[in-house]
Amino acid sequence: MSVDMAVKICGVDFKNPIIAASGTFGFGFEYGEFFDVSLLGGISSKGLTPARREGNPSPRIAETPAGMLNAVGLQNPGIDEFLAEILPEMKKFGTVIIVNVAGSSVDDYALMTEKLKGTQVDMVELNISCPNVKEGGVTFGVDPAMVERVTRAAKANCAQPLIVKLTPNVSAIADNAKAAEQGGADAVSLINTITGMAIDPVSRRRVLANKTGGLSGPAIKPVALRMVYEVSKAIRLPVIGMGGIMTGKDAAEFMLAGASAVMVGSATVFDPLSLPRIISELKDFCECNKIAAVRELTGALVD
Ligand SMILES: Cc1cc2nc3c(=O)[nH]c(=O)nc-3n(C[C@H](O)[C@H](O)[C@H](O)COP(=O)(O)O)c2cc1C
Repeated sequence: MSVDMAVKICGVDFKNPIIAASGTFGFGFEYGEFFDVSLLGGISSKGLTPARREGNPSPRIAETPAGMLNAVGLQNPGIDEFLAEILPEMKKFGTVIIVNVAGSSVDDYALMTEKLKGTQVDMVELNISCPNVKEGGVTFGVDPAMVERVTRAAKANCAQPLIVKLTPNVSAIADNAKAAEQGGADAVSLINTITGMAIDPVSRRRVLANKTGGLSGPAIKPVALRMVYEVSKAIRLPVIGMGGIMTGKDAAEFMLAGASAVMVGSATVFDPLSLPRIISELKDFCECNKIAAVRELTGALVD
């Protein structure tokens, strides 16, 4: 039986629902040495900011049970260099290109979507998990009123479908999803990392130079699944799920919880070949369970 692996989100055609998550895949070039990147449903770029950033001091990564902590700090070449040098090369992959953008003020987000107008970018993903410098360091994504405001400002300038990426570091994520919908988002993605900390008991110091970091990997999967389920029940927009996906079955679980597609981050750090493996495992899962089209999984959880 041949399985139809295609999905459509906000009018954009994906050859399958497996997308490389932002931050663990760079811009895809290093992975081209391991597998044919055109197999992917899509790629979300490393988070881009208005100007180049060197990121946080080292150590920026710590291993944790069933996951990892990172505090990379949005190291990136800046949007202008990305558009001039990197995007034309990424387009050659022949997969959906999502650009993940971040900023430290509402104006930054509006500037980023403006700069992406008229480019070959297929979709824009707003990373609103960064500190809002202008408003005193509070993360944009935490306060629903701020989520709505930053979404509206970004959307006003945005020529592509706009995905708002939600932070899990809140008490009621559905409220933040509703705020994104209210602000004009076309889709949401979740979850970003969960704030955590690692301590070296001998030196009595925190392991990460940044002191705290974002937890990702299998450790966060149950939390992510619950949040994807809650958000997909609360809004009408398409949901892209992520958090600890390591196998095709994990991807199927996120789709059953309501996701139209999924992103895979940390798995690629543990195993560079995980993305093509997850695609073929998801196809096998559908074949074994007599699912003719993968999109049938979306929201098909038996409640
Ligand atoms: C090293 C690293 C860097 C990341 N950088 C970004 C980023 O630039 N922008 C963003 O929106 N998310 C970033 N993330 C979060 C991932 O895209 C994803 O939301 C999270 O890791 C959960 O998925 P996973 O468990 O499959 O890794 C990063 C994650 C890791 C591990």
